[in-house]
Parts: sequence; C-alpha cells; structure tokens
Amino acid sequence: MDQTPTKPENDHAAAGRFPEGRLAFPHRDLTGIGQLERHEILYLLAQAQQWVTLNRQSAKHAGLLGGLTIINAFFENSTRTLLSFEIAGKRLGADVVNMHAAQSSVKKGETLIDTAITLNAMRADAIVIRHGSSGATQLIADKVDCPVLNAGDGQHEHPTQALLDALALREAFARRGEVSEDFTGRTITICGDILHSRVARSNILCLQALGASVRLCSPPALMPAGVEAMGAEPFYDFDAALDGADVVMMLRLQQERMSGQFIPSAREYHHLYGLTQARLSRAAPNALVMHPGPMNRGVEIDSEVADMIDRSIITQQVEMGVAIRMACLDVLTRSVRGLEGWA
Ligand code: CP
Repeated sequence: MDQTPTKPENDHAAAGRFPEGRLAFPHRDLTGIGQLERHEILYLLAQAQQWVTLNRQSAKHAGLLGGLTIINAFFENSTRTLLSFEIAGKRLGADVVNMHAAQSSVKKGETLIDTAITLNAMRADAIVIRHGSSGATQLIADKVDCPVLNAGDGQHEHPTQALLDALALREAFARRGEVSEDFTGRTITICGDILHSRVARSNILCLQALGASVRLCSPPALMPAGVEAMGAEPFYDFDAALDGADVVMMLRLQQERMSGQFIPSAREYHHLYGLTQARLSRAAPNALVMHPGPMNRGVEIDSEVADMIDRSIITQQVEMGVAIRMACLDVLTRSVRGLEGWA
C-alpha cells in the first residue's frame, strides 16, 4: 500500500473522512499552524466535534489513551492551556503529569535540552510544552522520541489556541443557523499587542487557511513588520479596523515580553484601542467578540462587552479548548497506540 501522505480530493473528505489507504495525519508533532495544510486543520476540527458532545455529558470518560503517559511541561504560567490539556488527557484515559518549571530542576540551572532528555527517559508518550522562547517546542521535538505539542512558544505560535478559536467560531455561527465548514467571506479583526502575540500569529495562519480576511490593529509600536506578506491588513485606527467586521478578537498587552515603553499609559491605550460597546457598534450587526484570555478588563476590553451574552464567545472558547486538545492528543498519539497516525 502506498504510504505517502496524500491530500484528499476535497475538504469534504478532510472533514473526518480520509480516503482509505491514506494517512490521516502525517505529522508526529504539533509545533505550529504553519506546518498544517487546510485539510489537516479541518480534520482536527472535525475530530474535536465528538469531544464537544462527550464533554457536555455527565459521564465524560473515553478510554482511548489508557496506559499512556502525557507530560505537561510548562515553563510559563498558564490557567486555560495547562488545565485543558490536563483535563483532555484525563478524559481520554491517560496518566497526566504536570511539570511546573518553578518547582523543577530548571531552577538549579538544568538546560531545556537536558530537561527534554530527562522527560524522554521517563518514556512519556506525548509531551506538551509551553516555553517563553520561540522555537523551544521544535528544539524539544528534535530531542525526544514521542509526539510534542506546542502549548505556546515565545512570540512564535500557539496552535491549539487558534484551533479552538476556529472551533468556537464555527459553533457560534452554527448556533445562528450559519453552518459552514470555513470562514470564506468573513472579516475578522484582531486588535491588541500583535507584536508579542503568538495567538495572533497562529490565528492569522489558521483563519486565512479557512478563507477569512484578517485585519490587524495595534499602535504602530506593537505592529510587527511584514504582516502584509502574511496576507493580513494592518490598521492603526481601531474604528476603521472595526468597520463591518464579523468578528473582533481582542488581545491583551503582553507586558512580560516588553522591554521599554510601548504605550504611553493603560488609560490612553484604552481610549484608542479598548473595545467598548460604542466601538463595537462599528462592526457588523451581531459581530462576535473573542479573547484568548487572560483578560485585562478596562484596558483592552470593557466588562460590558466581555460579558455580552449574545455577542461574546469568550467562555465558549475555553470550552472548545478541552475538545481541541482531546482531538490533538488522540490524533498525535495514534502511532504510539499502533494506529495509523503519521508516516
Ligand atoms: N489563552 C491562553 O493561552 O491562556 P493561558 O495563558 O491561561 O493558558
């Protein structure tokens, strides 16, 4: 049988059904959206759908990963990503261990590579990494024998965030009766600290792969060079960026990655770039509001917008995070489980 990974004939086939004899997912690791083709993104979204259903039941266990050990190695703080990877692994039946860098031998000077070799020696079946350095996930993936999943590396990528955002959007549009596999014809405005944001980068790649037009808005100092080359449209005027947008995704100021003064003050930033109810009225009627969290209410987003029941899908994003991480853990560990998973 020809084992060459082959692109399905159409996206319909990719939505959970690959032609017989072809590999479903030809990657060992998930380091970024940049490595994925459109049909692979659609495949992961389709796979997650079953876990959305399971997670809404009172009995949430599936034993797919029984006997496997998953290590979550987090070198940066996290609430949503760490907990949802832990919940995802446990719901699939795996043994899940969390390594917090602050309590590890990293504090005694152990290098990232030696830490990776140590985790590998414990025969982890998958390693989930969050690290402050761009490229750290790939570095670890190159040193270990098991699948590695990027839970956010520096300013590079946060692929499962972009996937969960896409799933949350699809769910929100479907609830309105607008069922569609992708986001063709949709305009999505991402506003905030684009320069330091791995969420923005992964979302630009993911949303565009799914057919959306992406606008980016930030103060000039927080707009990275070359966004046009990525196919996104830069704006410095938030009102113009919002004009007719179908979705508004707000990002926080990542003070922990800033050296020096990027904005005059939080108050002035809110005046120019904070999402208020009045500003939201410039977007399309019923435009959806997103935020990956953690939010700084009163800085990039007002509470009255963040908590709008009919417009904000911020809590749905968190819900979809567990389903997406279940899908990623399932798909990436298929080879470990003797199933067809990657080449
Ligand atoms: N969105 C996100 O990555 O949140 P955490 O930092 O809480 O994981």
